[in-house]
Parts: sequence; structure tokens; C-alpha cells
Amino acid sequence: MTLILVDQDLCTRCGICSVVCPMAIVTPADENTLPVVRDASAGMCIQCGHCEVSCPSQALLLNVRQDGKVPLPAEAGIISSDNMAFYLKKRRSVRHFTKDTVPKEKILEILDIARYAASGGNGQPVQWIVVHDPKRVKKIAELTVEWMKTLQNANHPMSGHVPMLIGAWERGRDVICRDAPHLLFAHIPEGNPVASVDAIIALTHFDVAAPAFDIGTCWAGFVAMAAASYEPLQKELGIPAGRKCAYAMMFGNPLYKVYGIPSRKPLAVTWQ
Ligand SMILES: Cc1cc2nc3c(=O)[nH]c(=O)nc-3n(C[C@H](O)[C@H](O)[C@H](O)COP(=O)(O)O)c2cc1C
Ligand code: SF4
Ligand code: SF4
Repeated sequence: MTLILVDQDLCTRCGICSVVCPMAIVTPADENTLPVVRDASAGMCIQCGHCEVSCPSQALLLNVRQDGKVPLPAEAGIISSDNMAFYLKKRRSVRHFTKDTVPKEKILEILDIARYAASGGNGQPVQWIVVHDPKRVKKIAELTVEWMKTLQNANHPMSGHVPMLIGAWERGRDVICRDAPHLLFAHIPEGNPVASVDAIIALTHFDVAAPAFDIGTCWAGFVAMAAASYEPLQKELGIPAGRKCAYAMMFGNPLYKVYGIPSRKPLAVTWQ
């Protein structure tokens, strides 16, 4: 089955669908061909839909839709009670950022919204570290790769994945922090049984609020895993005594826009 369908009359061969694919499996067009996902790579597709929704010409259709294509009117995304669904459905992980940094005042405005997130017993246990200096973000990515190297011959769920990630890093591709200018860490008290959930809720507030400020985010799973167990990274972050990193998120100014809404699994609900 062809994974992506590209309309040859609409495709301008801009290359964006290849650049945004997080799995790097969309081969760019040349004079004779359209963008394509080769059969050998199709199994790596995570069905995120970024190739489809990032196409400025609406030329590409991901051929795995389980639902009809949801039209995204030009005005969608302005938050009001009417188009909240559009606002949330058009949120995407951003993995391509401009070089500009985000002013601290803007970051504080978004974090201030996250202050109102739900927390168990209204305990509000979440505190933040913002890594604002892009050079420090790079250092954290380096330490995450160092952590990955310790897993290479170990019995760890990540051991099978790390050679590919380390290889990409060594070829100059930042697959850890995606060249994001900033990182956000939520940290919580050790030994608080609900705080890890509180942290994810607060980070989700940041994730959801950020696009209203023209800021793009992406959950930084590799960094978060390293921060949970790799002492050199914990030292670098300087998390206060008695507290631990709950999770991490990269953010910055997005390089690309989103023009549509990708397919997702059908809603699964049991009524009782
Ligand atoms: C807990 C968690 C960890 C993630 N870690 C990473 C990561 O380390 N790198 C990355 O590029 N994307 C990461 N993602 C983004 C997912 O790949 C993304 O959410 C998914 O493909 C769906 O795409 P969407 O967010 O645009 O809907 C993470 C997402 C979550 C929720
Ligand atoms: S993003 Fe759209 S227009 Fe650009 S190369 Fe891909 S399919 Fe063609
Ligand atoms: S759906 Fe996502 S992983 Fe699959 S080809 Fe498109 S961009 Fe790449």
C-alpha cells in the first residue's frame, strides 16, 4: 500500500513533508518523482500525520486515515468556546524551530497559566527549570546521548533504539532536542505519590497554551528519561535537594505552520 498520496498538480516540490517527518522516511521529490515513502521504510511510520498537515499546498494525503478528512477553516485556532476543538486538534509536536529565542516575559506568561492546573488536593507541588540558553540545551542533549551510550550493551527497554539515535547525533542531527532553543523541566518533591501526575497536567497546560503565544512545543522524552536516572545530567540541571525531574519539554518559535488536522484512532468509549 502506498503510504502517502501526492497530487502531482498541487505539489510544488517544496520539500517540507520530508523535513518535518520525525522518522525521516519521506524521500524528497526530484524533477521526475514526487515525494514518496518507500515500502521498506513504511513500517517505521508512526502515523503522526505531520507530512499531511504541514503541506502548504494540501497536496499530500496520508493513506492510513480511519476517519474522513476534517476541514480546517482559515480562521480556526482562535480560542473561543466555538472553536476550542479546532484549537486542540491542530496542536502538533513541533520539531523545527527558528534560531530566535523566546523572551523570558513571554515564557513567564505561559507558565503563569500552568500555575492554575489541577493538582491532587490542590497541593501545587510543581516547580520549573527553564533552560533559556540554547548552548545549555545543546549540553543537555550531549549528556542525554552520553546516557544512551551507557545503555548500549545493557538490558534496558531503550537499548535497541539507542544505536540509531547515537548514530544520527554523531552525523550532526539533533534527534534529542531537535535544535530547540529552550527546554522546560517540571520538578516535584520526592516521595509525593500524586506529584508526577500533577507535573504532567501542568506541562500539558504549558503545551496547550503555548500555541496561543505562537510558541511550539514537543515533549522531550529522551531527555526526561536521562534526567530520571543519569547523575551527570541531574547535576547539570541542579534540581534542588529532595526534588526530582518529573518530565521535560522542548520549545521555541515554530519554523513551519500547520494547515490541517491529522487522522487519529477512532474514539473508544464504553458507556456504563
Ligand atoms: C511522553 C511523550 C514523550 C515524547 N518524547 C518525544 C521525544 O523525545 N522526541 C520527539 O521528537 N517527540 C516526542 N514526543 C512527541 C510524540 O512523538 C508525538 O506526540 C506523537 O507522534 C503525536 O504527534 P502530535 O503531538 O503532533 O500529535 C513525545 C510525546 C509524549 C507524549
Ligand atoms: S509538502 Fe506538499 S507541496 Fe511540498 S513537497 Fe511535500 S507534498 Fe509537495
Ligand atoms: S505520518 Fe509521520 S512518520 Fe509517517 S510518513 Fe508522515 S510524517 Fe513521517
